[in-house]
Amino acid sequence: MSDTLRIGLAGLGVVGGGVLKLLEQQGGLLESRSGQRLEVVAVSARAQTRTGGPDISSLKWYDDAAGLAEDADVDVVCELIGGSDGIALQLSKAALQNGKHLVTANKALLAHHGNELARLAEETGVHLGYEAAVAGGIPIIKALREGLSGNSFSGVYGILNGTCNYILTEMRDGVRAGKPRNFDIVLKEAQELGYAEADPSTDVDGVDAAHKLALLTSLVFGCPVDFDAIQIEGIRHINVLDIEYAEELGYRVKLLGVSRAGAAGIEQSVHPCMVPERAPIAHVDGVLNAVVADGDFVGTTTFEGPGAGAGPTASAVVADLVDISRGLVLPTFGLPVSSLNARPKAPPGSHVGSYYIRLMVVDRPGVIADIAACLRDQEVSVESLLQHGRNPDEAVPVVLTTHMAEEKALANALAAMDELGAVLETPRMIRIVNL
Ligand SMILES: NC(=O)c1ccc[n+]([C@@H]2O[C@H](COP(=O)([O-])OP(=O)(O)OC[C@H]3O[C@@H](n4cnc5c(N)ncnc54)[C@H](OP(=O)(O)O)[C@@H]3O)[C@@H](O)[C@H]2O)c1
Repeated sequence: MSDTLRIGLAGLGVVGGGVLKLLEQQGGLLESRSGQRLEVVAVSARAQTRTGGPDISSLKWYDDAAGLAEDADVDVVCELIGGSDGIALQLSKAALQNGKHLVTANKALLAHHGNELARLAEETGVHLGYEAAVAGGIPIIKALREGLSGNSFSGVYGILNGTCNYILTEMRDGVRAGKPRNFDIVLKEAQELGYAEADPSTDVDGVDAAHKLALLTSLVFGCPVDFDAIQIEGIRHINVLDIEYAEELGYRVKLLGVSRAGAAGIEQSVHPCMVPERAPIAHVDGVLNAVVADGDFVGTTTFEGPGAGAGPTASAVVADLVDISRGLVLPTFGLPVSSLNARPKAPPGSHVGSYYIRLMVVDRPGVIADIAACLRDQEVSVESLLQHGRNPDEAVPVVLTTHMAEEKALANALAAMDELGAVLETPRMIRIVNL
């Protein structure tokens, strides 16, 4: 075995810069742990000039990142550029085809091309590491693929997007402090603080969480990655009223990615959920992430930690590099690609659960009876009803929670309510999850 693992680093932004710094600062520690020196020998980014961080002027430079995959002096390519297609895909495929190990933090790439990349890695006998792609610094890939490999799983779920969790936490803190702020205002603050991108849609519309969920689902259920099977709903429509009612009802609103095996197949969804206040995940706040896995022998295990940022993400990337230097080559999704078993997906609307419904109504006699009739017609029974104050001149919120019902029936009931003249805004529904 060579005394050096030679790394080609593509992307020198938040994550790439963090990896350079970690490798420089922890060089001796990493060498003693892995038995090899982890050395960056070549780099690529759009701009060759970097300010701050380790000096890269002595390293081989590639204007075209794909050159790293052809470089005979590179053993492992780190793809830290981003994007599901384009150069990230081209580089990743070329690296694997050329027998180089690949480490990536790119969940979008793997959610869309993970099956193909896993097959390529297997064909050339190299390792595809993606610890940083899911929940940043939390070593959840290692935990599921190795530490919990003795278990069959009934499900996995988690808070998979720090931006959304930060916004929802801030909205709740505002309510508690008697200074309620709506989504748009908190989003703007998050952007100013650097917790949300200028274009926040991938985060707040739930797509980023869904990318990560697709990978977790494949790992726990031994099935190919199937991003298109995920029902995705983001947090833009969460109103501060919903946060207030959640408080009153003993819940917290969290954006959860949930993957469960049921009689109808595997159900994968990203949704805002009402989580009971007593559940451990309800207390994972701010930019933190958490993943919960239900295994048959181990029981329920919860992992919590920082989901993003230069340090945590670099920590995960380097853990993959150490694995590679130790000679670890594992099936990408826990099974050889030929053994990944496409499981039936639960039909849309087949989810069974209880729900929170908020309506904005004109408060006149008979309204509640009409709303109740919409639910009765779909055989959905009401668990509780809240209406504070009365004002015949303007819309007032009416909040209901239901007993267990099929989501299809609930959707039909909401559509019927939307037709009622006294219901002034589109009815809002949030799933209640009993964890
Ligand atoms: N940031 C996080 O906390 C975090 C957490 C987990 C996973 N990730 C994932 O890590 C990856 C990188 O994210 P990041 O936050 O580090 O992004 P970033 O700060 O925007 O950095 C991206 C880097 O890629 C370079 N790049 C862009 N186009 C390129 C091209 N065509 N050829 C070569 N280099 C190119 C950029 O070059 P210039 O510097 O010249 O612009 C920049 O150095 C993404 O897949 C992201 O989803 C990020």
